Amino acid sequence: RAQSAGSSSGLNFTPVKLDGSDRIIVPPGYKSEILIRWGDPLFLDPGTGFEFGKQTAAQQERQFGYNCDYLGFIPLAKDRALLIANHEYTNPELMFPGYDPENPTKEQVDYELAAHGVSVVHIERHPMRGWRYTLGAWHNRRITGTTPMRLTGPAAGHPWMRTSADPAGYTVLGTLNNCSAGITPWGTVLTCEENFNQYFANNDQVADAAKKAAHKRYGLPGGASERKWERFHKRFDLAQEPNEAFRFGWVVEFDPHDPGSLPRKHTALGRFKHEATSTVIARDGRAVVYMGDDERFDYVYKFVSDGKYDPNDRQANFRLLESGTLYAAKFKDDGTGEWIPLIAGQGKLTAANGFANQGDVCIKTRLAADLVGATRMDRPEDIEVNPANGYIYAAMTNNSQRGTSGRPGTDAANPRAENRHGHIIEMMPAGGDHAAPTFQWRFLMLCGDPAKDKGTYFAGFDQSLVSPISSPDNITFDRRGNLWISTDGQPSTFKKNDGVFAVPVAGPERGYNRQFLSGVPGGECASLVFSDNDDTLFVSIQHPGEGSTLENLTSNFPDGKEPRPTVIFVMKDDGGVIGS
Ligand code: FEO
Ligand code: CA
Ligand code: CA
Ligand code: CA
Repeated sequence: RAQSAGSSSGLNFTPVKLDGSDRIIVPPGYKSEILIRWGDPLFLDPGTGFEFGKQTAAQQERQFGYNCDYLGFIPLAKDRALLIANHEYTNPELMFPGYDPENPTKEQVDYELAAHGVSVVHIERHPMRGWRYTLGAWHNRRITGTTPMRLTGPAAGHPWMRTSADPAGYTVLGTLNNCSAGITPWGTVLTCEENFNQYFANNDQVADAAKKAAHKRYGLPGGASERKWERFHKRFDLAQEPNEAFRFGWVVEFDPHDPGSLPRKHTALGRFKHEATSTVIARDGRAVVYMGDDERFDYVYKFVSDGKYDPNDRQANFRLLESGTLYAAKFKDDGTGEWIPLIAGQGKLTAANGFANQGDVCIKTRLAADLVGATRMDRPEDIEVNPANGYIYAAMTNNSQRGTSGRPGTDAANPRAENRHGHIIEMMPAGGDHAAPTFQWRFLMLCGDPAKDKGTYFAGFDQSLVSPISSPDNITFDRRGNLWISTDGQPSTFKKNDGVFAVPVAGPERGYNRQFLSGVPGGECASLVFSDNDDTLFVSIQHPGEGSTLENLTSNFPDGKEPRPTVIFVMKDDGGVIGS
C-alpha cells in the first residue's frame, strides 16, 4: 500500500518490524537518544553521581528512581518543560551485585524505598542536541516510598485507615507501585498506586475477618512477601499493622509547579490497583476522571466531582477530587453501557453487606463493584480521552485466564477465551457528555498477529497490512488524534521485544496499525508522551534485562553495562512532526 504524503492520518513513516535485539529501533529518518536513566542525579549535592553497586538510600533520594513508567510532559515556556516520571517498582536482582532474595539487607530495602515514587525533572530543548535534563533545576523533585502525604475524602480518618504511627488516619508515608498517571486540566499530576499488594505480608495473621477478606480480594499474601520488607519495617507486616495496606491503592495528586507541595491521596476516587487517570471537564463544569483496575476480571471506573472546575482559580480546583460520585462500568451486549454509581446505602451497598458509609465503599471499592454487577474486564490498563473526537479509549492488556476452568467466560466486551494479546475498546459518552450515565462502545482492535492468531480485528482495515501487536498498555494521542500505543507482554506472547505502535482512529486508515519503535530484551515500553509541538516522542524503557541475572544479562541497555531503566526521546532527522 502506498503511503502518500496526503494520507488522512498524516502518518507516513516506514514501519519497523518485531525484533529481539538489544537496541532501540526506530523508522528510517528518525533517531533515539537517552534523556535520563536510573541513578542520574537531579540535584547539585556533591556525591550523588551514579556508581553501580555502591549506592546508598540517601544518594538514591537525590537521583532519578528505578523502573520509569508513566511519562508526562508539562510545557513551561518555549523549549522548556517538566517531565513527570513514575518509578513503579524495583528489580533488586538487577540493582545489587550478589543480591540474595531470601536475605535482603535493610540497606537494600531502604534503597529500594527511595528508588520508588515519582520524579519531576526540568528538561530543555537545545537547537542541535535535542532534549537534555537540567541538573539542579528549581522544579526538580523526588517523591519516594517514604514521602509524607495527606489523605482526603470519605475514607480519610476512617477507623480502617488508622495505624500505630498515625492514630488519626490522615497521614501516610510514601506512595508505591506508581504505574501510570495523568495531568489534570488544572495542571496537577494524578499518580496511580497499582500493585501495592506485593509490599505487604502475613494476611493469615490478621484477626479481623472483614479486614482479612478485604485484603484477600486485593491479593495480599497470607505469609511472607516476596520482597521481605516486613522484616525491617513493621508497617509492611499485616500481623502488626493490619491497616497500613488500606492506605495504599489510591490516586495521589500533587502540584509539579511547587516542589514543596504536600501530595494528597484522594480516597473519593476509590481503592484498587489503579493503572492511570484521564481527566476531562464535563459540559456542566464538573471534573470527570476515567480509571482502570489492572487485574484479571476487574473493572473500569469513572469519578464525577461534586464541584465545578474554575478556569480562573487554580487553587480551588485542588479540592475537586475530594468529593464526588464513583461509578463502575457495565458493558452490555447491545453495544451500550451503563455507569453504575457506588454509593453507600444504595442498592446492595448496605451496612449488612459491609458498606455502612462511603468510606467503606472507597476502601473496599472492588467488593462494592462486585456487588453491583459491573463487567469483569481483561485487565484494564490505560484509559484516555482523545481530544480530537472526545471518545474514550481503554486498553485491555490481556487475560489468559478468560474462559478457563473456574473463571468467568467470554462476554460481549471481552470476547476471546484465553485472551493473550488484549484489545482496545472505544467508548462514546451519551450525547458527548462525560458526566452522562450511559455510553456506547465498540472495539477498535482485537490484538495479535493476524497471520497466526484467530479472531484479530483492526477496525475492519485490511489485516494483511497491519503490524502485529500484543498486550497494549499505555496509550496517548498525537495532535491529529491518532492513537499511539506502548506494549507490555510481547516477550512472552511473540518472543520479541515490546514496542510502540501508531494507529489512526478515523478516516480511511482507521485500524491501520503500524509499529514505530522496537524496545530491548526484558524491557517493556511502559509509557509514551509527545512534546507540545509533536516533534518529540518520549518513551520509558522500563526494566531492561528483566528475567535475567547480572551474571547472565539479556540486556545491557543503555550504556553497554548493567541495564538501567531509561527515558529516551525520539526525533525526526529533519525536526518534523513525529510520524509524518
Ligand atoms: Fe503497571 Fe498495569 O501496568
Ligand atoms: Ca502499565
Ligand atoms: Ca502492563
Ligand atoms: Ca509496568
